[in-house]
Amino acid sequence: MELDSDNNTLLKTGLVITATLVVAKLIFTFFTSSSSKKKRLPPTLQAWPPLIGSLLRFLKGPIVMLRDEYPNLGSVFTVNLLHKKMTFLIGPEVSAHFFKAPESDLSQQEVYQFNVPTFGPGVVFDVDYSVRQEQFRFFTEALRVNKLKGYVDMMVTEAEDYFSKWGESGEVDLKDELERLIILTASRCLLGREVRDQLFDDVSALFHDLDNGMLPISVLFPYLPLPAHRRRDRARQKLSEIFSKIIGSRKRSGKSENDMLQCFIESKYKDGRQTTESEVTGLLIAALFAGQHTSSITSTWTGAYLMKYKEHFSAALDEQKKLMEKHGDKIDHDVLSEMDVLYRCIKEALRLHPPLIMLMRASHSDFNVTTRDGKTYDIPKGHIVATSPAFANRLPHIFKNPDTYDPDRFSVGREEDKTAGAFSYISFGGGRHGCLGEPFAYLQIKAIWSHLLRNFELELVSPFPEIDWNAMVVGVKGNVMVRYKRRQLS
Ligand code: HEM
Ligand SMILES: *[C@@H]1O[C@H](CO)[C@@H](O)[C@H](O)[C@H]1NC(C)=O
Repeated sequence: MELDSDNNTLLKTGLVITATLVVAKLIFTFFTSSSSKKKRLPPTLQAWPPLIGSLLRFLKGPIVMLRDEYPNLGSVFTVNLLHKKMTFLIGPEVSAHFFKAPESDLSQQEVYQFNVPTFGPGVVFDVDYSVRQEQFRFFTEALRVNKLKGYVDMMVTEAEDYFSKWGESGEVDLKDELERLIILTASRCLLGREVRDQLFDDVSALFHDLDNGMLPISVLFPYLPLPAHRRRDRARQKLSEIFSKIIGSRKRSGKSENDMLQCFIESKYKDGRQTTESEVTGLLIAALFAGQHTSSITSTWTGAYLMKYKEHFSAALDEQKKLMEKHGDKIDHDVLSEMDVLYRCIKEALRLHPPLIMLMRASHSDFNVTTRDGKTYDIPKGHIVATSPAFANRLPHIFKNPDTYDPDRFSVGREEDKTAGAFSYISFGGGRHGCLGEPFAYLQIKAIWSHLLRNFELELVSPFPEIDWNAMVVGVKGNVMVRYKRRQLS
């Protein structure tokens, strides 16, 4: 979407103002009075003017701020946002507690409350941790390997169908194309055949309204009577009705499908209770929100890098040729799992461009961390603690030439994602709340890119894309224009 510059400035100003409110809200909601008995507090970011200086710097861009301050303040520091505190834990040496702490110490519920009107009542952040844990178990079960095998067949079919509609040669906005394809695939695997085949236009318009109903201001005031919020609520209501019908007819017919919808319908709580229609709908919406933009953004970055660096494109292509010699045209879960070169190309794109750039928790107990150079800091309870995949993934003591696209850094012998322990590479988070959809995401992106590599010559004709830092899920700015030409690989 093109905006003229006045609108753009207005939009940016609006974003800054709403972001300010957002942070103010976070602050007032989560910080209790700060304890001051402790002696070894982390260094505090100093900024001018006092009181709001650091807040302004934070809002101008958390990643730029981290990049500027890390050399002076080190891997643990506190940013005073007005009179409250956010403490950053950057790098595997100090972030272990962030990832491993139990819910009673570090919780997500407060920081992710704003999702409730989108996901709907009775699910995820609207319920107690004990219930949420069971719902995450439903996710885990719906994403087991035996289920993934079935989803892969649908991913492959969707990719084949989609790209069969491209001509012999032409030019496309790859970003736009991959977004469309991924919503189709996600609908098929997660929401089910009924939605994918019959109701698709309807439902995708409703999801569009849900998406557009999540604004920066929504984080602060999720129930503000804005047109976007009203459309969101109407869409959520309509989706309830649609899914209610689908679930009802599946239950009556007794037919079972291999999709996440079916898994959620059959999921049971420990006490034997079945999921309600409303819970099933909410969990599906949550899955789509977790997995759709993240995956489509990652597919686009992967493509952009492959087209930019011919040597990696050739390496990925050679791998496809070898696999075709071995397996013919067949692509299934196991063939995709053999695509190590492509896997590393995706993983490296995701290292440089994690779509979720800041992870946060509300802290409910005191803890301490010790840095690489042996300094120990006490983090008082009441702080918001945060870590940043976008920054941590580019630390030079973990990743050699961190700003360079180098998929081989993950190869046997180097394995830079592991040498500093489990939390070196955190595009998917890790530990207690690590992404449950990681294997699904890789399979989906590999299904798309193996098809493209096998069937098309591709060339990036627009400049290498920039990062769209302003998006809620950080993605690719502008168009990604690609010239394609069909080919036969043998
Ligand atoms: C490239 C794609 C993806 C990326 C980069 C990604 C990233 C992440 C990250 C960073 C977290 C941790 C959030 C935190 O610690 O606060 C997370 C959690 C989660 N993701 Fe993903 N994700 C992706 C795809 C998916 C897909 C496809 C699904 C489901 C179909 C999914 C489902 C989940 C769920 C359910 C959680 C919550 C786990 C928990 O809190 O215990 N994700 N993801
Ligand atoms: C850090 O916290 C742990 C657990 O509360 C405590 O046992 C330990 O003594 C603390 N370490 C330092 C250096 O204060």
